[in-house]
Amino acid sequence: MAILEKHKILEKNATLLLVFSFLVVTIGGIVQIAPLFYLENTIEKVEGVRPYTPLELKGRDIYIREGCYTCHSQMIRPMRDEVERYGHYSLAAESMYDHPFQWGSKRTGPDLARVGGRYSDEWHFDHLVDPQSVVPESIMPKYGFLANRMIDLSQMSQRLHTDSLVGVPYTEEMIAEARQDFRAQADPDQDASGLEERYPGAQQRNFDRRAGISEMDALIAYLQVLGTMVDFSTFQPDPNR
Ligand code: HEC
Repeated sequence: MAILEKHKILEKNATLLLVFSFLVVTIGGIVQIAPLFYLENTIEKVEGVRPYTPLELKGRDIYIREGCYTCHSQMIRPMRDEVERYGHYSLAAESMYDHPFQWGSKRTGPDLARVGGRYSDEWHFDHLVDPQSVVPESIMPKYGFLANRMIDLSQMSQRLHTDSLVGVPYTEEMIAEARQDFRAQADPDQDASGLEERYPGAQQRNFDRRAGISEMDALIAYLQVLGTMVDFSTFQPDPNR
C-alpha cells in the first residue's frame, strides 16, 4: 500500500511525472536498442539464401518498376490462416538481399513471397499477358508488352556493383561475369556451370519460350525463385533466438 501512496505524489505533480516517465522510457530504450550495436548481424543466417542472379535481379527491378508491389505483398506472417494459404511464414533472411524489401502491406492480389514453383512458366506467361485468360475474375492489369522488350545488358555489372555497395555479397567475379550469367540462365544452350557455381540452385531455361531475352524472361525467373531458396523440409529455427 505504501508504494501506491508514494505513487500518488507522482500522479499529482506533472513535472515529477514527466521526469520519471522520461527515465522509464530511457531505460526501456537502452535495453532494447543498445544490444543491437553489439550484434554483428540481427538476421539469423539461413542455409540456401543467396543473392539474386543477374536475371532474377533484373526481373525484380521490373517488378518494382511496374508497381506490382502496389497490389502484392511479399511477407507471410506467422499466423495460422496465412501459413495455411501461402506456406511457411517468411524468415528475415529470405529478404536480407532485397534493397528495398518488398514486404508491403497492400493485398489486392495474393501474397507472392512463396509463389516460386507454384505455377509453370507457361502459366505465368499467359497470366501476365492476360490475367483473365487463366483467372476469369481477375482484376490484374495485362503486362504482355514485357515479352517484346529486350533487355539491355550494358549496365548489368554496374547493377550488381550497386547492390554490393549496400551489403549484398556479390564478389568481383560475380560482377565481372554478370552478363555471361545473365545469358546463361535464360538460354539453355549455354554452359551454365559458372552460373551454378556462383548461384547454387539457379534455374536455367528459356522462361518465356521465345527467342531473345526479354523483360518477360527476367520477371518470370524472379517470380519462380521467390520463396524457394530455403528448404523447409530440413529448416530448423535457431532455438537461441
Ligand atoms: C491492380 C492490382 C494488381 C497489380 C498492379 C498486379 N497484380 Fe498480380 N494479381 C492481382 C490480383 C487481384 C490477383 C489474383 C487474381 C489472379 O490470379 O489474377 C493477382 C495474381 C497474381 C499472381 C498469382 C498469385 C497466386 O498465388 O495465385 C501473380 C504471380 C501475380 N499476380 C504477379 C503480378 C506481377 C508480377 C505484377 C506486376 C507486373 C502484378 N501481379 C501486378 C492484382 C494485381
